[in-house]
Amino acid sequence: MDPKEILKKAQDEKYAIGSFNFSTAEILKAIVAAAKETNSPAIVSTSQKEADFVGIREAAALVEAWRQATKLPLILNLDHGKDQEEIRKAIAAGYNAIHFDGSSFDYKENVRQTNKVVKYIREVEKTFDCSILVEGELGYLRGSSAINDHVLEIKPEDLTSPEQALDFVEKTGIDSLAVVIGNAHGIFTKSEEKLDLERLSQIKEAVGDRVFLVLHGGSGIPENDVRKAIESGIVKVNVNTELRIAYKESIEKELKDKPKETTPYKILSPALDAVKKVVKEKMEVLGCGGKSIN
Ligand code: 13P
Repeated sequence: MDPKEILKKAQDEKYAIGSFNFSTAEILKAIVAAAKETNSPAIVSTSQKEADFVGIREAAALVEAWRQATKLPLILNLDHGKDQEEIRKAIAAGYNAIHFDGSSFDYKENVRQTNKVVKYIREVEKTFDCSILVEGELGYLRGSSAINDHVLEIKPEDLTSPEQALDFVEKTGIDSLAVVIGNAHGIFTKSEEKLDLERLSQIKEAVGDRVFLVLHGGSGIPENDVRKAIESGIVKVNVNTELRIAYKESIEKELKDKPKETTPYKILSPALDAVKKVVKEKMEVLGCGGKSIN
């Protein structure tokens, strides 16, 4: 399975692959079940902290077990990797996609650090004859994967500039580019995420097909905007908060409804179903159903 081929097919056929975060084995199981039922390729992701909780080698082993059991193309991605050491550990564990988030640096330093990661990964690919996707990030993505009750405020300077996007892609050599176009991490109860689709089209025009465009903060964005963003070139959509909410609310309900229940798989089975339902709904919006290439 070549992760670049999977995204290339999505780019050519104008659908997107979902990147879904997991921090427990049953959330991963729910994502895989949704992918299986819809015959979709899927990106399964851990942030550094999520990987720390599952265990980075354990996360890779679980995903490999699911690949063998389902024959699905499952790409294991390090989400918002910020530290070169963590990236090395993820690659050593068997991750086949790395998102390096250098967006907290100034532009020049973001280019320098991202290019360093790209060079390292290209060496690994040559040495081990494998394919690893590298994603860079340009722009400042606000929020966190949680329910935020303040008003979402995105400043004009947070947004990805189309001219800078081309320069960034050329100087870093990344495969994928995460853009900031009005998206943010998490769900905002007092405002709505509104995508600047015009800016996205300008970015796409500037970079063409040389990179896969990525939309982070996939929770809480109106479905129609996500569909339009895919028409305008988005190939990967990251979702975390909506899965977390489905998981938590289901467990809360189970514990409340059945206070005497102590069997973990009984408490957690409805949570698995709730997460699976959200993932299947997202996959429907992304248009990746039936696109699994074995
Ligand atoms: P949400 O939590 O808003 O879905 O964003 C997830 C994400 O972008 C992970 O990188």
